[in-house]
Amino acid sequence: FRHAFIFDLDGVITDTAALHLAAWHELALALGLPFNNAMGERLKGVSRMESLELILGARAGQYSNEQKMRLADRKNAAYVRLLARITSADLLPGAVEALKAVRASGLGLALASASKNALAVLDRLQITGLFDHVVDANQVRHGKPDPEIFLRAAQALGVAPGRCVGVEDAVAGVQAIRSAGMFAVGVGSRSVLFEADRVIPDLTHFHPTDYLR
Ligand code: G6P
Ligand code: MG
Repeated sequence: FRHAFIFDLDGVITDTAALHLAAWHELALALGLPFNNAMGERLKGVSRMESLELILGARAGQYSNEQKMRLADRKNAAYVRLLARITSADLLPGAVEALKAVRASGLGLALASASKNALAVLDRLQITGLFDHVVDANQVRHGKPDPEIFLRAAQALGVAPGRCVGVEDAVAGVQAIRSAGMFAVGVGSRSVLFEADRVIPDLTHFHPTDYLR
């Protein structure tokens, strides 16, 4: 491929944020921790263990690493249960059309997801086959905003980072794309994603060629 697009999953292709939030909320309640939905924005794109640290907040030091692993497993079990509800009806508006437009233009298409459940989500949405390559949290050492996950996707596609466009809804994700030396398209609000090269409200009317340099 001469150019490639690398898409984030959660919040770009489907909105799993509410499910992640519900699962964290359940854990916070069980532990008697304060929790409000304003946490949502800070948890976007952040790995499971880092999210747990944010949830525990000042109480993080009271738990051993082993206890934290168990808490993360508990949250994940709740999340996996909620995933069973997802169907292709949960694809965000314009998402499939955007992915197909990339393919139809002969461009490489990869997924770069901070979630260890990415393959299960793609499967539920029935869009696994659209991607040339998938990199998820199981394959990287450093989470977003580290550029590793985007660089790996580019490498797998054989496309130089400067010829890649990353598509993200999270601040940490936009930062990862920029540090990878790629063009960053933010999906969401400009006031949150001001570090992106371009910001669009959603994937409807997504024309891949608009973002190629
Ligand atoms: C995505 C979501 C985050 C989530 C992370 C890890 O990036 O935006 O909210 O914490 O993935 O997900 P996982 O399924 O591995 O717990
Ligand atoms: Mg996201």
